[in-house]
Amino acid sequence: MSLANLTQYESIGINRPYNLADGHAHQRQNDSQMQIVQTLPTLFVSAETAVQKDLETEFQDLFFCVSGQESARFLPNVLPCYSASLTIDLIATYLGSRKIRTMLIEPCFDNLALLLKRRRVDVLPVSEDQLVSPGLEDSLRHNQIGALFLCTPNNPTGFSISEAGFRSIATLCARLGVILIIDFTFRFFARENRYDHYKVLQECAVSYLTIEDTGKTFPTLDLKVSLFSSSDDLFPDIYELHNDILLNVSPFILRLMIEYLKDAQAEGLQATIWGLIDRNRAALRHALRHSVLVPANSETHVSVEWLVISDMSLSGQAVVALLHNADIGLLPGAPFYWNNPDHGERYVRVALMRDPDLFGAACDRLADALQKNGMVIQ
Ligand SMILES: Cc1ncc(COP(=O)(O)O)c(C=O)c1O
Repeated sequence: MSLANLTQYESIGINRPYNLADGHAHQRQNDSQMQIVQTLPTLFVSAETAVQKDLETEFQDLFFCVSGQESARFLPNVLPCYSASLTIDLIATYLGSRKIRTMLIEPCFDNLALLLKRRRVDVLPVSEDQLVSPGLEDSLRHNQIGALFLCTPNNPTGFSISEAGFRSIATLCARLGVILIIDFTFRFFARENRYDHYKVLQECAVSYLTIEDTGKTFPTLDLKVSLFSSSDDLFPDIYELHNDILLNVSPFILRLMIEYLKDAQAEGLQATIWGLIDRNRAALRHALRHSVLVPANSETHVSVEWLVISDMSLSGQAVVALLHNADIGLLPGAPFYWNNPDHGERYVRVALMRDPDLFGAACDRLADALQKNGMVIQ
């Protein structure tokens, strides 16, 4: 039986000993992060007396500095949210209330499509290939699209858009009066196509909304901050929507995330994030080398591995059910294809932001379960 959405599969995974399902940052603290944890009481007390605006300004500056977004460090139209999903829901409310027909990237994490539909947005799919093809203009015009919603880098595929490609999409949207919406929540994993997105957005004078997040990156037990930015023309309406939902993100969480960002700035992204991903990806690929689960993209750097099932008789659903029996949680591919689930039938996704020892043990168990169930290449 298939479940209603990916979060329900993640809920199963989170209670399994070997949870490789959700894409949240579940790795243990490294040495310098551990030092932050040891100062938690001090951080809490200092947050009590801090001025909210000062914390928000410092957080925004550091977040965009560490992520190479110089042009956004002091942008005025940036609103903190509790989570990326809340930011997406506010966007969905905005689009739905104005009946703006939206094209959304496919595949992507299914809650993007689900939130849009729940807010009654008329939503059509656009593939990664179509996004960077000359046919995009015709497609936007023909379907009378008012907003284009993409993720770069994308979850689960790792697809990302080059600076030239991004500029041409932003220019096209500006010319057609289409709002460009970008989910950047996986941005810290990008190693190629790293450029100042906000500079391009401003130079192209496009109407835009963006989603940023710390939740996929830093191991803060789901204490996280999402940033919701908009172009000047959209900001007054967005500000009002945001006011309906929240006054402020907890000053303690902002204070905590400032410390994690300072640490990432001092130690570098290789030491903080990329090394762990490389190590776990290599362990997974080694464990799967004789199996029917094959990396879909050998070059990807994002924090998840997207695997194709080479045995045509097996679905992602069947592989996930079987691995649940071996206490391993992972995600089936079909729900990522929120409009054409059949296209994702033969994929599964494994999350990599995990403690390497636990991940290594999960890989051994995975290899063993695949072997016992005949999911190996003869
Ligand atoms: C690309 C993308 N955006 C947004 C979200 C929502 O993030 P959160 O669950 O932290 O609200 C997810 C969740 O995995 C995601 O993959």
